[in-house]
Amino acid sequence: MSEWPLNLVDLEAAAAERLTQNAYDYYRSGAGDEITLARNRSAFDEILLLPHVLCDVSDISLETTLLGSEVAMPVAVAPTAFHGMADPEAEVASATGAAGAGALFCLSTLSNTTLETVAEQAPPSPRWFQLYAFKDRGLTTELARRAEAAGYGAIVLTVDAPVLGRRERDVRNSFSLPEPLTVASVAGRGAVEGKGESGLAAYFEAQLDPSLSWSDVEWLVGVSGLPVVVKGVHRADDALRAVDSGAAAVLVSNHGARQLDTAPATIEMLPAISEAIAGQVEVFVDGGFRRGTDVLKALCLGARGVLLGRPILWGLSLGGAEGVGRVLATIERELREAMALCGAATPEQLSKELIMPPHHGRGSL
Ligand code: FNR
Ligand code: LAC
Repeated sequence: MSEWPLNLVDLEAAAAERLTQNAYDYYRSGAGDEITLARNRSAFDEILLLPHVLCDVSDISLETTLLGSEVAMPVAVAPTAFHGMADPEAEVASATGAAGAGALFCLSTLSNTTLETVAEQAPPSPRWFQLYAFKDRGLTTELARRAEAAGYGAIVLTVDAPVLGRRERDVRNSFSLPEPLTVASVAGRGAVEGKGESGLAAYFEAQLDPSLSWSDVEWLVGVSGLPVVVKGVHRADDALRAVDSGAAAVLVSNHGARQLDTAPATIEMLPAISEAIAGQVEVFVDGGFRRGTDVLKALCLGARGVLLGRPILWGLSLGGAEGVGRVLATIERELREAMALCGAATPEQLSKELIMPPHHGRGSL
């Protein structure tokens, strides 16, 4: 490519040219009419920042800890399936790019490289493992134990996908995982093959457990020696229930708008959840984060960290491990600049007083 995209918003169009229709549509899609997909972005526009000036921001540090792991920035890689459609090195490349940037990497259950191979071949760096609950509980327990044995630091249990959301492009394309790619960590459990429908939706129906309930969170906390992050929380009452069930953290997420269409944007759901959690556990968020100011707003509203999904896939398609590193370096630079302009030298100095209240200043006009 002649010029690397200047920002994360422009990455998608560049990556689209590199990918097959089957892969690009799978990566980009939201569910239904994609109302939530658009809102995950547009909701940021409604939140205005009221910066402090004259704060000495000559020495800014983005370093923080996520569940105790030291990282260079409060931005991490979200679990996304099937990196092998973007790069031949698949998840080894994306994990290598994240490690180079000092960012935490979360590996999906549906990776094209086994969780052990990622742990062995990517440089040492904090990593979490995202777990889908299979109908076969023995297999589910085994995955959690394998992740622990391979050095992953947390289990991220995804709870917003009892069935796969309907992404109509995947239905039209009869989405299939191209050969020779497989769901590598759970080999031999059936193929992702579309026959007049989304092959992934069929895989979910055959393999994953829609009966999952709160008692299963307690079960997982019991069988796993790792902290459990509950991913896909939308509401304050469910967030509190996750804590009561033993979760070490909640991840506020609408699955990149791929599950329930017309759910709110994640930045709209975050304030009520962080208020209810009130520091009991760490709160993370993902969905539509593309700009440094987006990340800054989430940190102001109580998130400890923000995860990126699609931009990582675009970077991987365009430049492998180096591309992923560039995506993370771009958002890091933008976040650093936004913090400087808001008068904050560390993530800890960000709070909701930097967010303009809805009717501020308009009453006297
Ligand atoms: C996802 N997501 C996801 N989540 C999960 O828990 N397990 C998974 O395997 C996947 N797979 C997946 C594939 C693709 C192509 C996308 C786009 C998303 C959801 C992901 O973790 C995250 O919640 C969103 O991607 C965040 O939104 P953005 O950053 O993509 O807008
Ligand atoms: C998706 C699944 C794999 O969103 O989480 O496609």
